[in-house]
Amino acid sequence: MDRLLIEGGGPLSGEVRVSGAKNAALPLMCASLLTSEPLTLANIPHLKDVSTMIRLLARIGVEASLDERLGVTLDSRRIAEPLAPYDLVKTMRASILVLGPLLARCGEARVSLPGGCAIGSRPVDQHLKGLAKMGAEISVEQGYIAARARRLRGARIATDMVTVTGTENLMMAACLAQGTTVLENAAREPEVLDLANCLNAMGARVKGAGTDVIAIQGVERLHGAAHAIMPDRIETGTFLVAAAATGGAVRLLGADASLLDAVLVKLGDAGADIAVEPAAIALRMPRKPKSVNVRTAPYPAFPTDMQAQFMALDAIAEGTAVIVETIFENRFMHSLELQRLGADIEVSGNTALVRGVTKLQGATVMATDLRASASLVIAGLVAEGETTVDRIYHLDRGYECIEEKLAQLGAKIRRVH
Ligand code: UD1
Repeated sequence: MDRLLIEGGGPLSGEVRVSGAKNAALPLMCASLLTSEPLTLANIPHLKDVSTMIRLLARIGVEASLDERLGVTLDSRRIAEPLAPYDLVKTMRASILVLGPLLARCGEARVSLPGGCAIGSRPVDQHLKGLAKMGAEISVEQGYIAARARRLRGARIATDMVTVTGTENLMMAACLAQGTTVLENAAREPEVLDLANCLNAMGARVKGAGTDVIAIQGVERLHGAAHAIMPDRIETGTFLVAAAATGGAVRLLGADASLLDAVLVKLGDAGADIAVEPAAIALRMPRKPKSVNVRTAPYPAFPTDMQAQFMALDAIAEGTAVIVETIFENRFMHSLELQRLGADIEVSGNTALVRGVTKLQGATVMATDLRASASLVIAGLVAEGETTVDRIYHLDRGYECIEEKLAQLGAKIRRVH
């Protein structure tokens, strides 16, 4: 199993390029199932989750060809079997995103029920209720969701909570349904809008994506298209926090500041100087960071996927911060690992009290989930001495070449097998 060795203490400085967004790439790849013509996606990030999705799509019958310029073409002419097996779903919950497109295209689908995960129970009941409202017959048999519908019908669906992949699954299914579907309480995440833009380029009629009401007028068929995946706002935010925590100065090429409003406001409150350019963000941290309170909520509020990284920043900031996690019930696992590095954190329910300390000290820590791993890397970059981050397969799921990019910014970091 791979580990990262980090010799902390130095500021990050320099330029790196932001990759395509993982959470946009995964649903976009599933959108290829909606058409028998090729879908070409540019700016695809090289990540474990993306290769898992390629394997899952290949299992279903989709042919994928990669080009050297970060592009993938997905050809779903022949669907061999509308099935997402347990061994793939268990490693990547986003596999549930094949359910809506498969059902809409093939009239049936069998998808393994994703189990619990490190950050909470994460049910998919809203995906299923929505599809049922569109006329699907759904049952759970031997751990698999079995869904059937000769043709889905448009419906008015109001989800009980804001769900990102739920919105995406239903939006994709509705594209081929008969009639119009209206999704109320829809997720407003930019990745939902990116997906809607691609679906529309494929001939779909999606209106309102990016707001909390999305109307989808079903069409008979979709055609092929070419689409460039949006930049990864969470990768961007992670590198900005790493630069702020180390007192560095970085410029992130290809970053889109308009996707990161809530995060940039918090970094500004922490004392960072931020310059927004048309296709880049520059950040300089000329002083010791100040504590910032964080409360996660659906977009456009502060993203849960940036909570762990801010906990690392608050751990070495001046003052005390209150971090409230409202999306997932068990997303503070990193606090115990940060404490191994000397952080002073008290967790009670969904609230963490982080008292800034003057320094962290290197130790061996274990990554528990994707963004938790990123917070440990940030803490390792700040800590005195050597930090070993174990179980970094979580990081590889969502960060493209993280150690190479950090090394490019001057970090002393290496991967050992
Ligand atoms: C997506 C992101 C993930 C991010 C999360 C919240 C992808 C591939 N993943 O995950 O990185 O952390 O959004 O921004 O885009 N819920 C239910 N029933 C459902 C669906 C959701 O109870 O059917 C609950 C979840 O348990 C959670 C909340 O709703 O408490 C939000 O989850 P959701 O937005 O669905 O997260 P994901 O789409 O899985």
